[in-house]
Amino acid sequence: MRFANKVCLVTGAGSGIGRATAQRFAQEGGRVVIVDLNANNGHESVELITKAGGQAVFAQADVSDSLAVQAAIKMGVDRWKSLDVIVNNAAMMTFLPVVDLAEAQWDHVMAVNMRSVFMFCKYGIPHMPPGSAIVNTSSVHAHESEAGVAPYAASKGAMEAFTRVLALECESKKIRVNCVAPGAVNTPMLWNNPNVKDGEEKITGAVGQPADIAAAIAFMAAPEARFITGTTLIVDGGRLDIL
Ligand SMILES: NC(=O)c1ccc[n+]([C@@H]2O[C@H](COP(=O)([O-])OP(=O)(O)OC[C@H]3O[C@@H](n4cnc5c(N)ncnc54)[C@H](O)[C@@H]3O)[C@@H](O)[C@H]2O)c1
Repeated sequence: MRFANKVCLVTGAGSGIGRATAQRFAQEGGRVVIVDLNANNGHESVELITKAGGQAVFAQADVSDSLAVQAAIKMGVDRWKSLDVIVNNAAMMTFLPVVDLAEAQWDHVMAVNMRSVFMFCKYGIPHMPPGSAIVNTSSVHAHESEAGVAPYAASKGAMEAFTRVLALECESKKIRVNCVAPGAVNTPMLWNNPNVKDGEEKITGAVGQPADIAAAIAFMAAPEARFITGTTLIVDGGRLDIL
């Protein structure tokens, strides 16, 4: 029970990796704040957790909206009087070359994938006691990528650089900050990717399950990772070797 009575906030927890991570925290005693834009999926995640005997609440939020971010944090803190883990996991992609991408599309991806991380950290850290941890879901696209996904890849690269700086700033507070960078994972985001659908991005290698990434995120958030901060754990079944 590594997360007994720990308050764990997970964004994008209505689906895929975020849901699996929320379930993992709850199985290990955590009190989970499910944050997602999609209300049906968010409520479904809460139901799955509570039916299994865990504790969870749903905060509907667009993670790019500052007031919604602050309200989601407040919901967890008001209810359980702490904030011990933040997993910044919600994200979106576009599939257009840079020259065809509207400025508004660039801004939207950056706001959802990166500005949200800044805001959850800015408003969440003041509530986090020593021993807390932040884990940001990056992607192998921060390291090796393909045409058509520039804002997504850039947002994940920025996330990893941001994580290195924030880890330094949080050292004295005894809060650790890390990234987990998944490869291909069996979620709607993978199979809805048009580059995957039309075969341009070949998923010939390993495809992980959401629970595989959740296990890595839980490890990075747990006390046993106490000497790990400011880094990225790549969890891709060896995919970077074949990209
Ligand atoms: N699936 C993969 O192959 C893969 C690979 C590398 C990295 N990732 C990363 O893993 C993370 C989770 O992705 P997933 O595969 O589980 O995707 P998913 O589509 O299954 O889940 C993403 C969730 O984020 C939510 N979301 C999207 N925009 C939001 C917003 N503005 N505000 C609040 N919630 C929002 C969605 O409603 C959804 O529930 C993402 O950061 C993604 O970049 C996924």
